Amino acid sequence: MKILITGTSGRLGGALKRCYESRHEILAPSHAELDLARPDGLETVLDDLEFDVLINCAGMVHPDACERDPLSAMQVNAESPAQLAGCCQHRGVRMIHISTDYVFDSVEASPLDEAALAQPINAYGRSKLAGEQAVMAASSKALVARVSWLFGGHLPSFPEQMIKTALSGHEVAAIADKWSVPTSVDDVAHWLEHLVTQCPKASGILHVCNSGQATWHEYAETTLSLAHELGVIPDLPMVQRQALDGFAGFIAKRARYTVMSNARLAGWMGQAPRTWQEALRESLARGA
Ligand SMILES: NC(=O)c1ccc[n+]([C@@H]2O[C@H](COP(=O)([O-])OP(=O)(O)OC[C@H]3O[C@@H](n4cnc5c(N)ncnc54)[C@H](OP(=O)(O)O)[C@@H]3O)[C@@H](O)[C@H]2O)c1
Repeated sequence: MKILITGTSGRLGGALKRCYESRHEILAPSHAELDLARPDGLETVLDDLEFDVLINCAGMVHPDACERDPLSAMQVNAESPAQLAGCCQHRGVRMIHISTDYVFDSVEASPLDEAALAQPINAYGRSKLAGEQAVMAASSKALVARVSWLFGGHLPSFPEQMIKTALSGHEVAAIADKWSVPTSVDDVAHWLEHLVTQCPKASGILHVCNSGQATWHEYAETTLSLAHELGVIPDLPMVQRQALDGFAGFIAKRARYTVMSNARLAGWMGQAPRTWQEALRESLARGA
């Protein structure tokens, strides 16, 4: 297939490109070539490109940057994706739009399915929810894939930060009362390829994440214990517990519980996604 992927300098887009390029023809316009901060120019750029499916991984993804500049966040995360979806609809092409668990802020302690009420509490989440709605309004075939706490790929993420801190000998600390699902970009690449090639009817919202759930504290402990087992860190440090309330490092408010249920994804895949711990072990072993 000819797959157009945006955001390939980023974590997820880069992983999709690397995973697919041996089996598919990949078009990967750069940020400068297809700038989502300029919605008006997008149609002209797409007019010159031939593709069977568009996967939009580009976005303004840092909650604090979105909080500082909510108008740009709306433009990049909602208005431009809507333009891309409109072009795809016009050409009869499917669009996969990547979204986030940050559309939620739940007090529930059980995994949220696709019908659960989205109530974002920061500018990032509001812009991503507006993007989901605009994409689905513009394109009847669009699939909105919500992902969470991505690890893997060519850029360092939470596990690498924890390992780096442990190796530096500094205290390792992580928030112990905020829950989501760590998810492997390689697994996301595998699931999306299956959905693109085998499931033409998959549309609407889909939660695309590994199985299980964790707090950042549990995620840090598991990362360090696997890293220790793999010989990446010589000693296993204690991870100090931090609380979300009063945490000084954030500008944007962070949701406490955004764990997504992947039951619908399991239905499309014909089996339950593996746990985040299994995926993390494989990812760390590859880098060890
Ligand atoms: N990372 C996570 O844990 C996580 C969690 C939930 C959801 N998501 C979602 O997953 C998707 C991919 O995230 P990621 O982690 O891969 O992000 P990332 O590593 O920050 O990559 C973002 C990509 O978007 C591009 N981009 C930013 N502004 C752009 C613009 N105005 N026009 C065109 N391209 C632009 C960036 O290009 P430059 O490098 O040139 O800036 C980069 O290629 C996003 O939709 C995000 O909301 C991520």
